[in-house]
Amino acid sequence: MVQKKDKNTCEFGDFQTPESFALEITNIVKRLGIAPKSVLEPTCGRGAFLIAACQTFSSVNKFVGFDINIEHLKYLKKRIITEKYANEIDIINGNFFNYDWSDIINRLTDPLLIIGNPPWVTSSELGFLKSSNLPQKSNFQNKSGYEALTGKSNFDISEWMLLKQLEWLKERIGVIAMLCKTSVARKILIHVWQQKYRVILAQIHSIDTLKNFNASVDACLFILQIGDGSLENKCEIFDSIYAQKSSQTIGYYQNTIVSNLNNYQRWHNLQGNDSKYIWRSGLKHDCSKVMELVRQGDQYCNGYGDIYFLEQDFVYPILKSSDVSNAHTSTCRKYVIVTQQYIGEDTTPLKFNAPNIWEYLQKYREHLSKRSSSIYRHRPEFSIFGVGKYTFMPWKVAISGFYKTLNFIEVGPINGQPVVFDDTVYFVPCWSQSEANFIAAMLNSQPAKEFLTSMIFWNDKRPITIELLKRLNLRVLAQILDQEEVYDGYAKNHVV
Ligand SMILES: C[S@@+](CC[C@H](N)C(=O)[O-])C[C@H]1O[C@@H](n2cnc3c(N)ncnc32)[C@H](O)[C@@H]1O
Repeated sequence: MVQKKDKNTCEFGDFQTPESFALEITNIVKRLGIAPKSVLEPTCGRGAFLIAACQTFSSVNKFVGFDINIEHLKYLKKRIITEKYANEIDIINGNFFNYDWSDIINRLTDPLLIIGNPPWVTSSELGFLKSSNLPQKSNFQNKSGYEALTGKSNFDISEWMLLKQLEWLKERIGVIAMLCKTSVARKILIHVWQQKYRVILAQIHSIDTLKNFNASVDACLFILQIGDGSLENKCEIFDSIYAQKSSQTIGYYQNTIVSNLNNYQRWHNLQGNDSKYIWRSGLKHDCSKVMELVRQGDQYCNGYGDIYFLEQDFVYPILKSSDVSNAHTSTCRKYVIVTQQYIGEDTTPLKFNAPNIWEYLQKYREHLSKRSSSIYRHRPEFSIFGVGKYTFMPWKVAISGFYKTLNFIEVGPINGQPVVFDDTVYFVPCWSQSEANFIAAMLNSQPAKEFLTSMIFWNDKRPITIELLKRLNLRVLAQILDQEEVYDGYAKNHVV
């Protein structure tokens, strides 16, 4: 089925599940030996899962469907009357986020199956659509400061809904079987494992979103069985809903979700902060047409095709994620204006230190002041982010967050200037080529790679994150590789 993607569809994540697909899913649940007494579809839309559950489970005495969209519910009501499901199905119209669910939940007998397909939209997409289809306290993960400002507080509303459903089952016996993004399923797993929920079975079955929803998303059927029994800190991964055997087991070990339990257990001693080598993200400026330039002789051409003489001391070679991924690091395609030496530095001295750049920035003032990210608010004019002493160190060991393999590369100065990266690249700064060479070799060693890949989920959009890299203690790695002395020799020059 090809689904239309208008504003309303996006805002309410309104991608109705094909009935044949819903039926395949209810059959997977049945094959797990689950015989529910009641079934709830909390965002049922036209009720594909309710109808499929009616056809699959003879054990059920009550079905409840709930949705915000009255037109979908009218369709469903008509359908259940014609097809004579009317006695068993209650249809309720409401908003998931402000509905008092206790009434419904208390009426439903155990085992309770909560099944369906919640909207896959994120809070920031909703913000962009100026939609209020959100829980009231939307910063529910209590993200603060820089994370909240840079959008890391963004979350999937399905995550919020799934957490709510887990609360309903806290002291009950039941199953959650939901279609959701795989990244959401993993976040929920971390939550249930950290909070020691009574999960006795967890499975993730990859689904074909292109075939079923005409959308390309890494999504899955996520099954959590809640009840009394031995707790399971593992989740079986199936490559499709037709796979008979799991292809992978992910797990939870020492507060970490791991994609390869064996390798993680083998190298878990490498976990810890390195106090000397700190991972950094590249530069953030959010105005590439003004800030990024192509060099033409002694002049620079900006994204509007205008050419200027600018003070070279403030214009640095920049490498993008793709340059780092392809190891094109000895030359650069672009340069970037670096207006500050550290975050928050007063930019007005540029007037005297780099008058051409100052004049240039004045000319494009409006473009820079229109940068929407709130990180630039209440900051000196023309501010940038991801800048500090480390930016100006001559050598770096870098990796792109978009890499699909783990490969750390050394990057040295270009035309005598230290290289700057864009903000999708992560790096540790070094003072010399030999130091960069040493650090890159350590990071590319087998123990480091096995340790890091044991926590990487390659299907993620950005599988390599700064949080992941920060988990590796380089000093312990040096000990394991018998390189402690060399490490200490270099590390002592890093004053943090
Ligand atoms: C991905 S569709 C799934 C529909 C149905 N469960 C299925 O699988 O075919 C998401 C559904 O969530 C509903 N929805 C979105 N926001 C909602 C809210 N705040 N409260 C209740 N339902 C909501 C939409 O109307 C839509 O029917």
